[in-house]
Amino acid sequence: MFSKYFQSPFSKIASLQRRSYMAIESFLSCSHFKDAPKDVFMESPYQRPCRPQDLKALDLSEPVSLENYSSNENLFIQRSILNAYELDLVFLPFSKAVNLKEFKTFYCDENYQNAAALLPSFEHLAFSSLEKSINVSGHWTLQDFIQYTKTKIKDVANSESTLYKKITGSKDPESAARFFFIQCAGDFLSEASAMARNVLGNYGSATSELFKVLIDEYGYGVHEKKHSSIFEGMMKDVGLNEMIHYYWNFYTPGSLSLINYFHYISKNHSRFFKYLGALYYTEATLAFTTKSQSKIVKDVFQGRVSSLYFDEHSHIDIHHGRMALEKIIIPLVELHGEHIIPDILSGFEEFASLQDVADQELYRHIEVHDSLDELIAKAKKYHDVSGAVKFEEVLGEVSVSHIHNNDELFMVDEGELDLYFSPDKVVHMKAGDKIIIPSGILHLSKITSDTCRYSVKHIEVA
Ligand SMILES: [Fe+2]
Ligand SMILES: [Fe+2]
Ligand SMILES: [Fe+2]
Repeated sequence: MFSKYFQSPFSKIASLQRRSYMAIESFLSCSHFKDAPKDVFMESPYQRPCRPQDLKALDLSEPVSLENYSSNENLFIQRSILNAYELDLVFLPFSKAVNLKEFKTFYCDENYQNAAALLPSFEHLAFSSLEKSINVSGHWTLQDFIQYTKTKIKDVANSESTLYKKITGSKDPESAARFFFIQCAGDFLSEASAMARNVLGNYGSATSELFKVLIDEYGYGVHEKKHSSIFEGMMKDVGLNEMIHYYWNFYTPGSLSLINYFHYISKNHSRFFKYLGALYYTEATLAFTTKSQSKIVKDVFQGRVSSLYFDEHSHIDIHHGRMALEKIIIPLVELHGEHIIPDILSGFEEFASLQDVADQELYRHIEVHDSLDELIAKAKKYHDVSGAVKFEEVLGEVSVSHIHNNDELFMVDEGELDLYFSPDKVVHMKAGDKIIIPSGILHLSKITSDTCRYSVKHIEVA
């Protein structure tokens, strides 16, 4: 009798989940996120395709583990949440008039409502396994915290730069460096936007200290000195486009997660103390890592490209790291108590783990970009094409970049296409050509003949 009028708490949860799932579907059906791109590169800052078909394969109850971070599943999750977070940021094209219709359909009420429904479940998928992999429990005194974090930062300072070795040791160092800049672009072209969320409100003198850091990031109002402007200049110098998300198709899941993590810990202020830990880690370590990044620019481009972006950071982030610790974290712990330390420490450690994952992913992409000839040669040995899935596409059709969780044999049966691994690494393929696409590697295709038929088959490459 009662059940007619009252839902059980369990069915309430189920119906909440249903509503949230419908909102997620609706968010991803927005033309900016759903439609296949008109070209490989995004001419509009609002075009950010996510391959909504990947939602069907997603297990909403299973957070992505760090071992699985380079998966297509995580790529889809990270793209979706970046779109949700960046509704808080204002983007307009730099060099042409805005398409007002596009602008308004991107920043529409429905997108804001759906983004709010999407974020909690997708954030859980994207970041909750980090919490489990890091143990910051127990009582931490302020002295323990300072000593522990200083040791970790010193380790970063004293470690040899793998990034420098991977880029300068690549067969094509300029292309490897450009791919690295593309991985940074999603973050650096809107640098410190997430930080801006945390100068609203009032938490005492620490508010003003964080504001000082933010002012530096924004070039104290001089547009040319704004960190994002300096980065734009470097993108142009190396022959890359400086518009936000022009290279949307080429961000790895790890790179997206680094941008998203700062949104994750600043959008919901229950994570404010985590934010302080991640801020401290990033500012303090950037002071050192940017030194070798500056050397990459100097050595790879031999003086043709200014390394100002990295030089500026190796100078100013010494101060920012110190400000984060001495002017923000320590006074807040002294006032509010040592029980806020585990959250600060978990932000510090979680961001460090994500940085590690993103670095490994970048190195793997550089290695694969260097070995495309070998992957073409290896593919020739595979003659059994039974069970291959066949596709037919027409001239100009561009797929949204994606990742396979298995190695894949890719064969063109008729017509021609370009297979993109990066803006620089493009393999032109015609009928009879084959290549192996390794698991975990971003790629997309663009059809260059009237029609093109191609086949793909999962394989295990020894
Ligand atoms: Fe900066
Ligand atoms: Fe900084
Ligand atoms: Fe593919």
